[in-house]
Amino acid sequence: MLYHLLTFGCQMNIYDSQKIESIMSKSGHSPVCTPEEAEVILLNTCSIREKAENKVFSKLGRLAELKKTGGGKLIALGGCMASLRKEGLFRRAPMVDILFGPDNMERLPAMIADFVSTGARQAEADFADHTIWDGLGPIEGQVSAPVGIAKGCDNHCSYCIVPYTRGPEISRPADSVLAEVRSLASGGCREVILVGQNVNSYKGGGVDFPALLRLVENVDGIVRIRFMTSHPKDLGDELIGVMAGSKKICPSIHLPIQAGGDAVLSAMNRGYTAEEYLDKVARLKMAVPGAAISTDVMVGFPGETEDDFQKTMDVMREVEFDAIFLFNYSPRPGTPSANFEGVHSREVSQSRFDEANALHKTIMAKKLGGMVGTTHEALCLGPQTEFSGKKLHGRTPHNHLVVFDGDSKLKGETLKITITRVLGYNLFGVMAK
Ligand code: SAH
Ligand code: SF4
Ligand code: F3S
Repeated sequence: MLYHLLTFGCQMNIYDSQKIESIMSKSGHSPVCTPEEAEVILLNTCSIREKAENKVFSKLGRLAELKKTGGGKLIALGGCMASLRKEGLFRRAPMVDILFGPDNMERLPAMIADFVSTGARQAEADFADHTIWDGLGPIEGQVSAPVGIAKGCDNHCSYCIVPYTRGPEISRPADSVLAEVRSLASGGCREVILVGQNVNSYKGGGVDFPALLRLVENVDGIVRIRFMTSHPKDLGDELIGVMAGSKKICPSIHLPIQAGGDAVLSAMNRGYTAEEYLDKVARLKMAVPGAAISTDVMVGFPGETEDDFQKTMDVMREVEFDAIFLFNYSPRPGTPSANFEGVHSREVSQSRFDEANALHKTIMAKKLGGMVGTTHEALCLGPQTEFSGKKLHGRTPHNHLVVFDGDSKLKGETLKITITRVLGYNLFGVMAK
């Protein structure tokens, strides 16, 4: 059948969607570019904030219309909303025919076949202690590809739904990770991004995360290694040492701080203080000069005082993050913080959001402005369509995307790019002579 896949959410869903594509093509289904052309519409969904779920519900509303007018379309919903809400989701979203959780992706073709032959709704969204790591070819032609190294999370940050949608943390065996990296490299991939909710607590059969990085580094053909997400409490000197001693591991880390006030960090159950976080950042910057640090910040957590919020702003001024993903706190059903006192109005949270966003904008304008005239080795990711007039885009070792002109044959090459212009958070450049 012809299918169209829509992906919402984080690096794990982007990775899982590649596996869904492999599973579908192995069973003879073919991808199409629009839902209108498709017989099966697949949604790989996210539950991290209420807004993320609302995005999916409104998409489902539009797809329901299409289903009425287009006739015979089948809608299958996978990912975190499926494992969180299970069959209960059919009540709120009656247009959905099939529900499949992140651990049940390989059952999708059989569920589609059963629905087609019986017309009965299908739902499989339980955690499995196995997870499909092997036997699915990575997508061909990628210069930069995600590689899953762990699923689930054991941290139980008080606000977070992930332990409920993805289950306990399970590390993928190192051999299996390496087999996928080798297979990607032989297909022309140059950069791998090791993905998990907490990559630096990885423990795959006696191999810890620094050891895994060393093994991946030995794979010929791979020139760059990135990883996300790292948890500050698990960032130790050994990992910092491996980053410092490597030519392939990029000098860049995504290290979510969430908040700068210790009372908030403790209520969030994050396992570190602001001072400990700053100490780790200082150690990393000492060992890897100029390392880029990106982060996640959440504002409006229950009980967050104005003073707590100003401590978050202080940390932002001190670290001068290279990128920030900024969020308003959103209570999630069944998480401890959904019952916390001191809930803020939307207005208070949004005004803190706006204040933090304005500060980040100022910091970034200074930082990116300072890059004009400098030259960076960008890995060319191929053609881009967002900005007209320029043809290609690439990523610097410090994880900045840069747009430049050139022949699409340069995809996969490492090129020297001189930055010429900044537009918002976007960099533009030219190939250095
Ligand atoms: N594993 C990663 C984060 C995964 S979720 C880590 O521990 O850092 C990505 C980000 O979404 C989080 O870092 C957090 O900033 C945000 N987030 C998670 N739950 C949230 C909630 N209930 N409300 C608002 N933001 C949330
Ligand atoms: Fe959620 Fe915390 Fe796990 Fe990140 S570390 S996925 S925020 S529980
Ligand atoms: Fe969303 Fe699930 Fe990722 S809740 S952030 S898609 S692990």
